[in-house]
Amino acid sequence: MVLEAVLLLALLMVLPFAGLTNIPFLVLYVVVLALCLPVIRLIMQAGPPFVPTPKKTVQDMMKLAAIKPGDIVYDLGCGDGRLLIAAAEKGAVAIGYELSMPTYLLARFRTFGRTNISVRYGDFWKKDLSDADVIVCYLLMQKMKIFEETIWLRLKPGARVVSHSFTLPNIKPTAKEGDGVLYVK
Ligand SMILES: C[S@@+](CC[C@H](N)C(=O)[O-])C[C@H]1O[C@@H](n2cnc3c(N)ncnc32)[C@H](O)[C@@H]1O
Repeated sequence: MVLEAVLLLALLMVLPFAGLTNIPFLVLYVVVLALCLPVIRLIMQAGPPFVPTPKKTVQDMMKLAAIKPGDIVYDLGCGDGRLLIAAAEKGAVAIGYELSMPTYLLARFRTFGRTNISVRYGDFWKKDLSDADVIVCYLLMQKMKIFEETIWLRLKPGARVVSHSFTLPNIKPTAKEGDGVLYVK
């Protein structure tokens, strides 16, 4: 990954100095491009970037989630942990997955010492979330479609999904509050 990134950078630096009729350069270009393809694929598949949910929307989402003490709440891409903190304050066992290392460390720092919050480094698509009482998320539209086709199908009856802004393409929301949208399985 690091090697590929360095090669990509080198290619970008060399490109302006090389003539397009230069055969060795073209061969090098194709080789480097092939090596860079996994990086390009990763960039194309990238998940939502870290954009924190505003405080007002956090409150709206908590209202929709109607969390009861002991509920298991997952945040899919927990960012700095603000939704986990809000859920834990309602008595939930709050679990967040985060794939970006700096953001994960920030969430660990912000939730340090809170026994009912677990911040985990990892890809939530690869986790078993079937014990969720509540899922909160702030994803992208195309990720909501994947969510509907995968995680949603494995949720237990009565599980609540509260999404910031983005809706499930084929399921009617149960309620809306500000930018929060609630679905009940
Ligand atoms: C839009 S932010 C939302 C952060 C937080 N949930 C909030 O509402 O404030 C989305 C977060 O999901 C993380 N993320 C994206 N794809 C992920 C994945 N597959 N597994 C874990 N985290 C992911 C990003 O790094 C980012 O921090």
